[in-house]
This record gives sequence, structure tokens and C-alpha cells, in this order.
Amino acid sequence: MASRGVGIVGLGRMGLTLAAGFCRSVGSGRLFAAGRSERSIARLRDTVPDATLVPLTELPNRADVIVLCVRNADLAAVLDELRPQLAGHHIVLTLNNGLPLHLLSEAVPGQVAKLIPSVGNEIGAGATLLMPGPRLTEHATEHLLEMLRGFSHPFLIREQQGRAATDLASCGAALLASVAQSMIAAQSERGATLPIELAEQLVVQSVHAVSQLLEHGSSLDEIVARVAVPGGNTAAAIQASRHDLSAAWRAAFQATADNEASKPIPPILAHSEAE
Ligand SMILES: NC(=O)c1ccc[n+]([C@@H]2O[C@H](COP(=O)([O-])OP(=O)(O)OC[C@H]3O[C@@H](n4cnc5c(N)ncnc54)[C@H](OP(=O)(O)O)[C@@H]3O)[C@@H](O)[C@H]2O)c1
Repeated sequence: MASRGVGIVGLGRMGLTLAAGFCRSVGSGRLFAAGRSERSIARLRDTVPDATLVPLTELPNRADVIVLCVRNADLAAVLDELRPQLAGHHIVLTLNNGLPLHLLSEAVPGQVAKLIPSVGNEIGAGATLLMPGPRLTEHATEHLLEMLRGFSHPFLIREQQGRAATDLASCGAALLASVAQSMIAAQSERGATLPIELAEQLVVQSVHAVSQLLEHGSSLDEIVARVAVPGGNTAAAIQASRHDLSAAWRAAFQATADNEASKPIPPILAHSEAE
């Protein structure tokens, strides 16, 4: 399988996260990156100094796995530049749930897959989701999973599961942080005499404890059961909030699905969609 490196295209939020992550797993000599603005290149130099910067068109000469971390609007132009250098051995990864893998697969000579990172990957934490494209072999899948294990907990899923899995694995950290914020706000709104900084520290410790307990083998059910004894205050809080929380999450996940469905499939051939 691929003996050369991994190439990251686009050094924005996702590109930098994945550059740091892949650098942990493949080693500095095999992590290549292509940026556009001076600012994004400077950020890479600061945050992942071991990555090797190369021009976009040079990336396929250095890397067998190419990760497209650019926005929809830039995808066609990037693929146009890369395509003359791409060959059958290149595996192209997209981060975009809205781009069907069969379309990407038709646009490049090699295999394709979808990769969904999550915050924390840059420090070796959090999930990654890998969705194989139509021609991704078992061997290539295992090769990708092995690299992802170097900086994340990877899950192999089907493309049809991408939206729901992304809600939980990738949006999840921000959603949980937002839940913590809403707990602090609720105490403040009902006039609790806690300074906001203290309230935040207390919730942060709860989040940290949950994470550690899970890490040490407790399940979510066990954590709930240990604290929420029948007739107690926590049980009363869960009882009071459960109905509204379920409704809120149904609405939240409907919103992600609607938002994704509202966006056109990104054009991946510079002239095809426009004409
Ligand atoms: N799966 C997920 O969890 C997840 C989450 C968020 C986003 N995404 C997807 O990931 C992709 C990237 O999102 P993002 O938030 O990282 O976007 P971003 O922060 O805007 O970064 C995109 C980067 O691509 C660079 N770029 C554009 N054209 C380029 C080219 N020709 N050569 C080199 N670099 C180029 C841009 O350069 P400049 O600095 O010059 O603008 C920018 O730094 C999007 O498709 C987005 O939908 C996925």
C-alpha cells in the first residue's frame, strides 16, 4: 500500500486539525500540505512545524493519500489543478458530506473515500468517520484506518450514515459544550448566586469527570444511575428536562439535515455544472 505520504489541501480549520493529526500518525517526513493564503501557510508553520509545504501541483508527487480540506466553492478549481498529476494509486479523501462519493469517484482515476474529522483530533482525541467510496479496496480501507488510529478513534460507516454520525461524532463536541453553556445560563437566569466563572468551572469539572469515567469503562447508563438515585434531586432534574431535551435534539438534528439538503451538490468539474 501507499509508501509515500499524506497530502493536505487547504489549511483552514479542518486542514490544520488534520495536518496535526496525520503528522502524529505518519511522521513529519511524510506529511505534506498545500495552502493558498500567506496567513494559512503561516498558521501551519506555527502549529504543525514538521509538515512540509509544497505547491498544490507537487502534492501528488509526494503523497498517495490526498485530503481535500477546501470549501465547496474551491473544490472544482483544486481538482482541476490536481487532476493532471493524479494516477490510479492516489486515494482522494473529501470532508464534505454533501458530495456523493460516486461523483468524486468518477472525477479522479483512483479510489476515494469520505473522512469526517472532529475537534480534538489534533491532540489525538475524538472520533474520525471513514466512509469508503465505491472502489475503495479492503486493503486501502485498512491502510486508512491504521493511519486514523494514530490520532483518533476511527469508525468505518456507510455513506448513508454520514449525516447522523457526523451530528454525533463531529458536531457532538460543540453541541455538548453548548449544553454546558446552557446549564450555566439557566442557573444564572433563575438567579442562582454563583459567579459565572465559578459556574463554568463546576460544569467543566462535570464534563471532565464524565469523560474520565467513560475512559475508565463506565457506561452512560451507569453514570446516570450512580448520580440519579430514585426520588433524589438529579432524578427530578432528569425527569423535568427529558421531554424538552428530546424535542430539542430532534429539532437540532432536523436542522443539520435540512441545512445539508438545502445546499447544492458542489461542482467538482470546473465547467460541468456551470454550463
Ligand atoms: N466534516 C466536518 O466535520 C467538517 C466540519 C467543517 C467543515 N467541513 C468541510 O471541510 C471543508 C473545509 O472546511 P473548513 O472549515 O476547514 O474551511 P476553511 O477554514 O475556510 O478552510 C478552507 C481552506 O482552503 C484553502 N484553499 C482554498 N482553495 C485552495 C487552493 N486552491 N489551494 C490551497 N488551499 C486552498 C483556503 O485558503 P485561504 O486561506 O486562501 O482562504 C482555506 O484556508 C469544507 O468542505 C467543509 O464543508 C467538514
